[in-house]
Amino acid sequence: MRPVVTVGLRPGALDAAERLGRPVVAVVEKAPGPKAAARLADAVVTPFTPEPEPWAAVADALRRHDPAAVVPLPERSVPPVAHLAGHLGLGGLAAEAARRCSDKRAMKRAARAAGIPCADVVEAEDGLSGAEIVERLGLPLVLKSAVGSGSRGTQVVRDAAEVPDTLPPGWMAESFVDGVEMSVESLVVDGETVWTSPTQYLEPAWSSLVPAPLSDADREAVWELAEAARVALGVSVGMTHCEVFLTPSGPVFGELAARPPGGHLMPLIRHAYGADPWEAVFRVALGEPHGMPAEAVQVAAVRLLHPGPGTVTVAEGADAARAMPGVEAVALRVGPGDRVGPREGTGQEVGHVLVTGATAPEAEARLANASARLRVDVGR
Ligand SMILES: Nc1ncnc2c1ncn2[C@@H]1O[C@H](COP(=O)(O)OP(=O)(O)O)[C@@H](O)[C@H]1O
Ligand SMILES: [Mg+2]
Repeated sequence: MRPVVTVGLRPGALDAAERLGRPVVAVVEKAPGPKAAARLADAVVTPFTPEPEPWAAVADALRRHDPAAVVPLPERSVPPVAHLAGHLGLGGLAAEAARRCSDKRAMKRAARAAGIPCADVVEAEDGLSGAEIVERLGLPLVLKSAVGSGSRGTQVVRDAAEVPDTLPPGWMAESFVDGVEMSVESLVVDGETVWTSPTQYLEPAWSSLVPAPLSDADREAVWELAEAARVALGVSVGMTHCEVFLTPSGPVFGELAARPPGGHLMPLIRHAYGADPWEAVFRVALGEPHGMPAEAVQVAAVRLLHPGPGTVTVAEGADAARAMPGVEAVALRVGPGDRVGPREGTGQEVGHVLVTGATAPEAEARLANASARLRVDVGR
């Protein structure tokens, strides 16, 4: 069978490709370890630069494999996949859409131009002083790099004195959106959304639940907003992860990622719908029916574990947590004496707990009960 190209590596993607009988050629920034390498038909090591120039040569290196599809995995892979898809004549995001999705300034400009409610933005390049930024956006406000994901570097500033007098190049400030954060995951084929699922952030950056229990009105409003954002950004194919704030005056757009979500949302979707969204990602890229059921059959929830920086003194309870009702997976990857660095992004964890239940309240209660069995302490 013709292989699929993944830009980046994720275990769930490799598992799904194996189940589909598709060899995987991975384009990676660092040579894969021996375990991953053994599962690949080939690996091409190259930096994930967003500029188009280097990708013609990478496409040439991939051509001998005659790949059938190319799929983005991490955030940084979105522009490279657009360039590769163009060179290889495969379906994929247009380069312009990829650029809008990987630069938060371009994303917000496109959303605002389409009349989609979202935070007001000041870009470093606007040349406003700190005082002018506060005057324009009010407090609190949010400082972030225009490029990045997983909340790395994002900072909520409540005090005018903490706003730098000039924003560093490539940074932006946003008005603070006071709302309840959630996300919408979708599969898009030929410019049409063919499947969608809402995610509740039980605790943003720490804990999520799929599918989010929304009223019909909220579900419809959130779906319309996510769909308008996708169209405004020009995302015509693949899986998307759109973050939305629910506010008293309706949903407000946060951001949209043109790639499968992180934060264990892929396994949550698999447990909730009884079908693997990674397989659906490949099927969509291959032009095949996606195979995801429209409705979930149960509810799945996850909590990420991170004790903060320090040396681990206690790490226990994994077996006790596993024995609790509804627990599907427990990972605890540290033990006494291990050093843990600060949590700089939401992708960092020392373990996690994943549960299922018949209803959202049941899944949430099971998650709390299982999490309570786990203890990870650090000494500083
Ligand atoms: N304008 C905003 N108002 C309120 N919270 C925000 C705002 N921008 C970012 N945040 C918070 O910071 C998190 C990370 O910001 P986001 O724009 O989603 O970047 P990332 O790509 O790092 O996920 C968000 O999930 C949200 O919790
Ligand atoms: Mg985000």
